Amino acid sequence: MSVQQATARAGANIALVKYWGKRDQQLNLPAAGSISITLAGLETRTTVTPDPSLDADCFVLDDAEQPAGRVGAVLDLLREMAGEATSCRVESVNNFPTGAGLASSASGFAALVTAASQALGLELSEAKRSELARRGSGSAARSIFGGFVEMDAGQRDDGSDAVAHPLLVAEDWPLEVVVAVTDCGSKAVGSRDGMNHTMRTSPYYPAWVETVAGDLDLARRAIEARNFEVLAEVSEHSALKMHASMLAARPGLVYWNPATLACIHAVRDLRAAGTGVFFTVDAGPQVKAVCLPGEGERVAQALGKQKGVAKVMVTGLGPGALVVTGP
Ligand code: DP6
Repeated sequence: MSVQQATARAGANIALVKYWGKRDQQLNLPAAGSISITLAGLETRTTVTPDPSLDADCFVLDDAEQPAGRVGAVLDLLREMAGEATSCRVESVNNFPTGAGLASSASGFAALVTAASQALGLELSEAKRSELARRGSGSAARSIFGGFVEMDAGQRDDGSDAVAHPLLVAEDWPLEVVVAVTDCGSKAVGSRDGMNHTMRTSPYYPAWVETVAGDLDLARRAIEARNFEVLAEVSEHSALKMHASMLAARPGLVYWNPATLACIHAVRDLRAAGTGVFFTVDAGPQVKAVCLPGEGERVAQALGKQKGVAKVMVTGLGPGALVVTGP
């Protein structure tokens, strides 16, 4: 099988019904499903170059060399499938702050699997790429697809049914997303450590997991019916409930800063005054405001005025992971 350099891009995604907790650490299987939207404007571009002269994989993120870690582990899975042993150089660039709760691992592993499968001459289905991206990061399974995406928890022990599938393409309901960056630094506790700590120590974790299925049903039906009000209610509920489970961990995980809270209140005030907008917050201090088409600029202006907001970005929903060059 011939190997050749390949580049892919993948958009970050934002969960509306959150993934927080695992049923298996080894295969990185989620304890429950999740629903997300893939973004157009926040993306990772990754080039994979198989290079027989390398002793080991080399991973460069935004011009800084990093330990290959999970990147190497995902490459191992792909190499095994391709019957290849070649080490690879992986160069990744994010057009947004890395590791600050903007889901860089989601777009990162989706772009990696898409570029590396092409580089290693593998023709994989989207479901298979989703499964492999999940091994790098659970949320990455969703970034293989564009628009509205559902991740299944699956039931099989081998994880082959813990994959994502699309619900609607971006054009079917072109919502807008405002990202309010309230802190440009890296987060103190990464998602993986945060969710494992919550699983181990939070008395609210079982209640969280038990209630996700109901939220998924509601969100799925709201998306199908393009019912923004219902989607707003269930999405804010899922985000706040996830944070409640973290707050109840020991010690409690507090990802928010004062500007996070100011943005949450600003979004609720806007909605009360008739603007189609709701918030969600991941394992970091940034606030993502999801808006009806045409409302993004107005929401961005309001969030940009909140004390402590360093930057606002407006984007839309985008496509799934794609090879941009290659053999
Ligand atoms: C809060 O996908 O980063 O963003 O599977 O351990 O790599 P690992 O976790 P990760 O967790 C994402 C958590 C979240 C919610 C979500 O995206 O659903």
